[in-house]
Amino acid sequence: MNGTLDLHTAAFGRRVEFHGEVDSTNRIAAELARAGAPEGTTVVADSQSAGRGRRGRSWFSPPGANLYFSVVLRPAAPAAAAGQIALVAAAALHRALAARAPGAGLRIKWPNDILTARGAKLAGILCEAGSEAGAVRYAVVGIGVNVNVRSFPPELAGSAGSLALEGGREHDRGRLLAAVLDLLEPEYRRWCAAGSLAPLLPYLEEHSALRGRRVTIREPDGVRTGRAEGIAPGGELLVREPGGALVAIVSGEVTLEPEPPAA
Ligand code: BTN
Repeated sequence: MNGTLDLHTAAFGRRVEFHGEVDSTNRIAAELARAGAPEGTTVVADSQSAGRGRRGRSWFSPPGANLYFSVVLRPAAPAAAAGQIALVAAAALHRALAARAPGAGLRIKWPNDILTARGAKLAGILCEAGSEAGAVRYAVVGIGVNVNVRSFPPELAGSAGSLALEGGREHDRGRLLAAVLDLLEPEYRRWCAAGSLAPLLPYLEEHSALRGRRVTIREPDGVRTGRAEGIAPGGELLVREPGGALVAIVSGEVTLEPEPPAA
């Protein structure tokens, strides 16, 4: 990857920092955002020494193989809506990856993962926002894609996948980055204009890993089970509980459950 991207965007990736190794592109992008960097500023790294995942996890970030980048956003949105940005990014990222791995049956797992048909995690999204007086001041959407990596540390070996492992060939990381930015910018603009995920829901539902499936959700205040029915315009996962109630899950760790054997 070098310093030129073949972009079709107005703002995303027009100001870009390429790094060798950094701790976390999200940390650097947030620092740039706080210092006034314009919307679309993008930080890319070849590797990360402290790549961040959701829930305090780390993100496997070896050099020379994958894509790690973060984009500064400045939506005029309430702070409570910042969580929706991960789903905006998931729609764009899914489009870009599915075009490169058409046979992999890629799915979006609410709220921030791209999985293969066999459930291997190909990419993750971490959205971190700074707010002021109840409004988003800036948001950083960080995306990690397992592109050309073919082996994982033991703790990830059973759950992670890569584009190269899916399609058997290597992918150009610069071209993939440009493709994601080209798709992310219009999806983000649609979300900003609508003030909700409504225009993105048909795509998110069509490619959902969860819709219609039995799920367990570990939330901060307990564990729920039920059947995922869809995503609300505010980004919540809608789950039908065994008793019939439809609950809207704001955040939680979702596990897919096997279907009970047919009677
Ligand atoms: C997750 O699935 O838990 C989210 C992973 C997000 C990883 C990306 S890599 C680029 C950006 N910088 C980080 O430190 N994290 C995100």
